[in-house]
Amino acid sequence: MMASRVARIPHYTSPYLFSPRISPTLRFHPHQLPAFHVPLPQFQSSVPNYFRQGTQRGFSMWESPAWSRSSGHIHWQNFLKKCQKSHKWFSEKIKALLQTNFGLGLATIFAGSVSNVVYTQYTNRIREIKLQSALAMGAVPDIERKVNFVERLGATKAIESILKPHIDYEHYNMIVGNHGTGKTTLVRHVGHKLDGILYVSIRPNCASDKSFAEEMAKAFHWTSPTHFWLDRLLAYWGISTAATADDTRALLDRVFNEFHNQAKLFKIKNGRTPVLVLDNVNRLAQDNPKLLNVLQDMAKDAADDGTYITVFVTSEGKAPIQMLSRSSSSRLGKVMEIGDLNHEEAIDFLCNKRGISKSTSQEIYGLVGGRLGLLGSTINELHSGQNFTDVRTLLLTDAKKVLRNAGMDQKAQFEPIAKPIAQFILKHGRISLDDFYKIAGAQGDKLLSIDVFTNVPRTEWVFFDTRPMEIAVGALVGEAAG
Ligand SMILES: Nc1ncnc2c1ncn2[C@@H]1O[C@H](COP(=O)(O)OP(=O)(O)OP(=O)(O)O)[C@@H](O)[C@H]1O
Ligand SMILES: [Mg+2]
Repeated sequence: MMASRVARIPHYTSPYLFSPRISPTLRFHPHQLPAFHVPLPQFQSSVPNYFRQGTQRGFSMWESPAWSRSSGHIHWQNFLKKCQKSHKWFSEKIKALLQTNFGLGLATIFAGSVSNVVYTQYTNRIREIKLQSALAMGAVPDIERKVNFVERLGATKAIESILKPHIDYEHYNMIVGNHGTGKTTLVRHVGHKLDGILYVSIRPNCASDKSFAEEMAKAFHWTSPTHFWLDRLLAYWGISTAATADDTRALLDRVFNEFHNQAKLFKIKNGRTPVLVLDNVNRLAQDNPKLLNVLQDMAKDAADDGTYITVFVTSEGKAPIQMLSRSSSSRLGKVMEIGDLNHEEAIDFLCNKRGISKSTSQEIYGLVGGRLGLLGSTINELHSGQNFTDVRTLLLTDAKKVLRNAGMDQKAQFEPIAKPIAQFILKHGRISLDDFYKIAGAQGDKLLSIDVFTNVPRTEWVFFDTRPMEIAVGALVGEAAG
C-alpha cells in the first residue's frame, strides 16, 4: 500500500530548483556570515536587545527542523508570558483608575452609553413593529351594539369600495350625511373587517391641532422614537433637531411623515393603497377650519403621489361647503351620501329590532322620520318613562333652539329670506339648489351651514335638516309640515 503510494509521487520537474548549488537562499548560507561561527548564546549577548528576537528568527529559517520547533515553543511561551504581564499591568492600571473619581465617572459613562445604545435599538424596533401592525392588522374599532344593527346592503357595498380603493386610484373621497344618519356606524362596521385602514375620529371639543395630532398618534400607535443620549444633548444645545420639535405642528408633521413611510411599505408589501379615514371632520370646520384646509391639502398630495387615499366623513353643512370651495377639491373623487331609512326600513327597525308596537312605530316615524340617531334617542326617552307628547315637545324645543341660535326665530334678520324657502319646501318637499340661491343670494352658504336646511354636495336639492326642524319651521311660518 505504502509502496504504491510512494511510487505515485511524481518527480520534481526541476530538481535544480532546490539544489544547494543553485538555490539562491543557500548561495548566501549562514556559514559565510562571520557571526555564524560565534556560539549562539555568545552572539545573542553581543547584539543589542532589540536585535535578539530578529536574529533568532533569522537563524531559525536555516537551522534544522528540531531547532526550529523548540524555538517556536519558546516564542509561544514568551508571548503568553507577555500577555499575562500586560493583562496584569492593564488590570492594575484599570483598578487604580477605577479608584479615582475620574475613572469611575468614565466607566459609568461607558457602561451607560452601551446600555443606552442597546435600549435605544430595542425600543425603536418594538416601535417600528407597532407602527406596521396599525396598518397590517387593521385599526378600525368595531361598533358597540351589534344586536340592533340594521344591515344596509347598498350603503355597505359602496363604503367597502371606498375603503378598498384600486391601486391606481388617485383621488380622496367624502362620505357625507346629516347628523345621526349612521355614517360612523357603517364606516366602522365595514372598516373593522379590513386591513390597511387607519381610522381617526375627531372627538367633541378636540379640534385643536394638538388634540388631533395626539388622536392620530394614538390610532397609529405612534410614539416618539427613543434617541441616543448624545442626540438629546446635541438637540438641547440646538446643534441637532433630532430629539426636540415638540410643538404641535411639528408633532402632526412627524406623525404624518411616519404614516407616509408606513403607507409606502404597506403598498409595496400588499399591492394595495392604504386608506386614512378622518371621521367627524365637521367638528374641524366648526372649531379649527385651518386644520381642515391642511388635511385637505395633504389628502390631495397623497392622492397625487398614490401613497394613500383619504376619506373624509362629515355631516352636511360647513365642512363640505368649505372643502368644495377650495382648489384642492379638484382631486375630490367620490361623494357618497348616507341618508335616512325609508318608511319600510324604519318601521322594520322599530318593530323587529327595538320591540316597539306597530302603532307607536308609526307615530315615532311621523315625528322623526327615518333618522337612525333620532329613532334611537326617541326610543330611549320612551323607555325612560316619558310619554310620546313629552318626547315630541323635547325634540321640537331642540329644533327651536337651533333656529334661535341661528337668529331665525320670529323677528330675526334672516326671516325674510328663510320664509319663502321654508314655505316652498313645506309645499313641495324640497327646493332646487338654483332656486334656493336665487332667493338666498349671498346668504345661501350661511343658511346651509346652520342645521336648518341641508344639501348633499354635488346634488341639486335642498331639504329641511331633520323632520322635527320641518315641524318647528312649519309652526313658525304658519304652515303645517307635509
Ligand atoms: N345601521 C344601524 N343600525 C342600528 N343603529 C344604527 C345604525 N346606524 C346608526 N345607528 C345608531 O344611530 C345613532 C347615530 O349613528 P352614528 O353615530 O353612526 O351617526 P353619524 O351619521 O355618524 O352621526 P354624526 O353625524 O352625528 O356623527 C347611533 O346611536 C347608532 O347606534
Ligand atoms: Mg359620526
